[in-house]
Amino acid sequence: MRLAVVGAGSMGAQIAQQAAINGLEVRLQDQSPEQLRRADASNRGHLMRRVEKGKLAALDAEAALARVRTSIALADAVGDADFVIEAVFEDLELKRSIFADLDRLAPAAAVLASNSSTMGISKIADATRRPESCVNMHFFYPVLVMDLVEVVRGPATSDATVKRAMQLARDMGRAPVLINKEIDGFIVNRILHAASQEAYRLLDAGVASFEDIDVAVEKGLNWPMGPFRLGDFSGLDVTYSARLHMYKTTGDERYRPSPQLEAKVKAGKLGRKTGEGWYRY
Ligand SMILES: NC(=O)c1ccc[n+]([C@@H]2O[C@H](COP(=O)([O-])OP(=O)(O)OC[C@H]3O[C@@H](n4cnc5c(N)ncnc54)[C@H](O)[C@@H]3O)[C@@H](O)[C@H]2O)c1
Repeated sequence: MRLAVVGAGSMGAQIAQQAAINGLEVRLQDQSPEQLRRADASNRGHLMRRVEKGKLAALDAEAALARVRTSIALADAVGDADFVIEAVFEDLELKRSIFADLDRLAPAAAVLASNSSTMGISKIADATRRPESCVNMHFFYPVLVMDLVEVVRGPATSDATVKRAMQLARDMGRAPVLINKEIDGFIVNRILHAASQEAYRLLDAGVASFEDIDVAVEKGLNWPMGPFRLGDFSGLDVTYSARLHMYKTTGDERYRPSPQLEAKVKAGKLGRKTGEGWYRY
């Protein structure tokens, strides 16, 4: 099985490395040599920490790193691939143009998957002549830690493609779930949004402080992080734009972003990455 990953950002780099840890040969492509260097250095850092903790043998770590070969040229990366996972910026036109290129450059039998968090594959697959071989494979950040993969079939996705995507996720040591219909937010983000929307409603109504809502969710529901701590971790700009997207696409008032969240984003208090969000870091 030859896997190619297109886009070597936060997601692509770790998707490639997770596959290589599980024995797959992977080509990792990005248009930016700097991103490829960063991906390589970051993956090395992660694996070496596992070696230091005694969780991975040094030789296995080196072998897993060597199984990811980086490339700038898309044709080189996907020319003999059995399976391609796209993880470039969340931009529909960019993804469509990459899928059109993949259709031209990857073998006719290759599956083309997108890691998009918000774009159902039907929006992208018709840029190719093989919509039946296109599917969403939604990994979670950080991919080296998070077990789940949401496999989402579009209206044109074939049973064979779904089967291959589910199997690839298992071969990568990940747990796939199948979503039979394209739906905004898939499963996890829908449930997360519903819960965190309620948390924001309680905050905006002055029912409890954000700290107490976090403690209640962490201690009462056993979630590792409450909604506000999690927002700081993923970036409040990401939470905000996901909410705005849901609000705009559904028109449902329940998804209107909280004014307090909007104020944080406008003030540039985006969470850990800026040193302050709901909490200070
Ligand atoms: N970050 C997350 O938590 C997360 C979680 C699940 C899914 N996703 C999805 O994964 C995808 C990537 O997200 P990310 O956070 O890794 O983004 P990122 O900004 O870290 O990385 C995107 C990468 O794509 C590369 N790229 C852009 N145009 C390209 C092109 N034409 N050819 C090759 N490479 C190109 C960029 O150089 C960059 O390295 C998005 O679709 C996003 O919705 C993100």
